[in-house]
Amino acid sequence: MTADVRIDVHLTVEDLAEQLRSDVHTGLSQRPRRLPPKWFYDARGSELFDRITRLPEYYPTRTERRILAAGAQDVAAISDAKTLVELGSGSSEKTRLLLDAMRAHGTLARFVPLDVSEAALREASAQIGTAYPGLEVHGLVADFTRHLDRVPNGAGRLFAFLGGTIGNLEPEERARFFGELRAVLHPGERLLIGADLVKDPGTLVAAYDDAAGVTAEFNRNVLRVLNNRLGADFDPGSFDHVARWDPDNSWIEMLLRSTRAQTVTIPELEMTVEFEDGEELRTEISAKFTAERLGAELAEAGFTREHRWTDPAGAFALLLAVAD
Ligand code: SAH
Ligand code: AVI
Repeated sequence: MTADVRIDVHLTVEDLAEQLRSDVHTGLSQRPRRLPPKWFYDARGSELFDRITRLPEYYPTRTERRILAAGAQDVAAISDAKTLVELGSGSSEKTRLLLDAMRAHGTLARFVPLDVSEAALREASAQIGTAYPGLEVHGLVADFTRHLDRVPNGAGRLFAFLGGTIGNLEPEERARFFGELRAVLHPGERLLIGADLVKDPGTLVAAYDDAAGVTAEFNRNVLRVLNNRLGADFDPGSFDHVARWDPDNSWIEMLLRSTRAQTVTIPELEMTVEFEDGEELRTEISAKFTAERLGAELAEAGFTREHRWTDPAGAFALLLAVAD
């Protein structure tokens, strides 16, 4: 049986270029300077993220995988879903546990991965299509903060948002995202969301500042993306990787700190950016939750939390919520 794979591109090269120009212009014109984390993920960035998931310090992926291995059957039985939609799907590697459970439950018909990274989406869709004969794979190259309305309709969908990616949205963005997601779900459809939990700062910082330096390369990759796509002349080697726990906001922030005073030019934006020696550019937040707080935010958006699974150490949580 040949694989049944279709990919719809809702983010053209022109859209992406326009968005990037706007984000870079806004983010580098303000102080402190910042960039949204979605620009990490060109093909190289997605590969670096995959390497991060296998690092000894980066516990979220393997912890979530263990939770899924134990809970996927329950998720399949409770949701009784025919379609699995995955937001920010990346390699969709852990997702196979859900697909297996839904297939064993006898309901699985369609898989809809959605990601901004076209390279990662195409590769994962092809692999899943081959591994699950008879499954309709309908991939979407799209932005989950802008294109949720493009997710194909149909009875009985389960939306998965794994990996703790929800923590990469700013709090206002997160509230808007939950509201928009609730608006596209029909009452009775469900969301399975993975969230990293608050824990001791040493463990958190190590997860974002690994000894092998892979996270540092991932962080600097955003500068390479700006060089490749906007003709900028960032010297990635002149920015140090910094990972810091912010207890007031309950998030890890990742920054790039300029190791010298320098001027960067971005010809596509006709922009020059002066960095002082030691000046920081924030490239990501990764919020850490309590299961209660996340449940409350979901309730505010119109979801009812049905189930919660955690690992024995309480490092990571998976919440299953139903649209009211
Ligand atoms: N869900 C996977 C991957 C997490 S990495 C896991 O649990 O391991 C985050 C993924 O979200 C990346 O593949 C990245 O390309 C994607 N992503 C980031 N911002 C996005 C956005 N705004 N819209 C769609 N995908 C996004
Ligand atoms: C994708 N996201 C959940 C990762 C995180 O942990 O916030 C991205 C990442 N950044 C550095 N390491 C991993």
